[in-house]
Amino acid sequence: MVRRMQKDRNFILIGYMGSGKSTVGKKAAKAFGFRFIDTDVCIEEQEGCTISELFAKKGEAYFRDRETELIRSLLSEPKGMVVATGGGLPMRPENAAILKQLGTVIYLKAGQDTLVDRLTGDTQRPLLSDGDLRGKIKSMLEIRGPVYESTADVCIATDNMSFYEMIGAMERADAKERG
Ligand code: S3P
Repeated sequence: MVRRMQKDRNFILIGYMGSGKSTVGKKAAKAFGFRFIDTDVCIEEQEGCTISELFAKKGEAYFRDRETELIRSLLSEPKGMVVATGGGLPMRPENAAILKQLGTVIYLKAGQDTLVDRLTGDTQRPLLSDGDLRGKIKSMLEIRGPVYESTADVCIATDNMSFYEMIGAMERADAKERG
């Protein structure tokens, strides 16, 4: 049985595409009685199109500006949110700083084999739409991995971990932050 969290903080989930941020985030929000925010879904709603369409129509830089704008706007929202972020969002130093201000940042770290399994055949992610998937994941993680690590308060290695174990790790992160 998961205890209900005090709604005086937020949890921010970061990590590579396919690491489970949205799936885990939705379930965790439900378990804690928090609101669930998915930055990609918010941007799709605001722009009236999918992320792939947005990349095609307005380009990646436009999308990245919308990400920054969105997380900045969350700073003035009431606490009690679990926020699942797009995989590239922490890469802007400005964004990483906002995320830290927003709440407890949790890096969901999935292994490369898990990511390849989950992302094979995916058609929703414009950055993975062509080329060698495994090679792309490997080279992107070389750049992104250290940024995820340095942005996060806690890193959870999610391979072979049950949802309840992940929730337990989030609760421990919460307790640690409270001191
Ligand atoms: C991206 C990850 C995607 C989405 C966009 C770019 C990235 O979100 O924001 O396609 O740069 O890693 P998910 O991590 O939810 O797939």
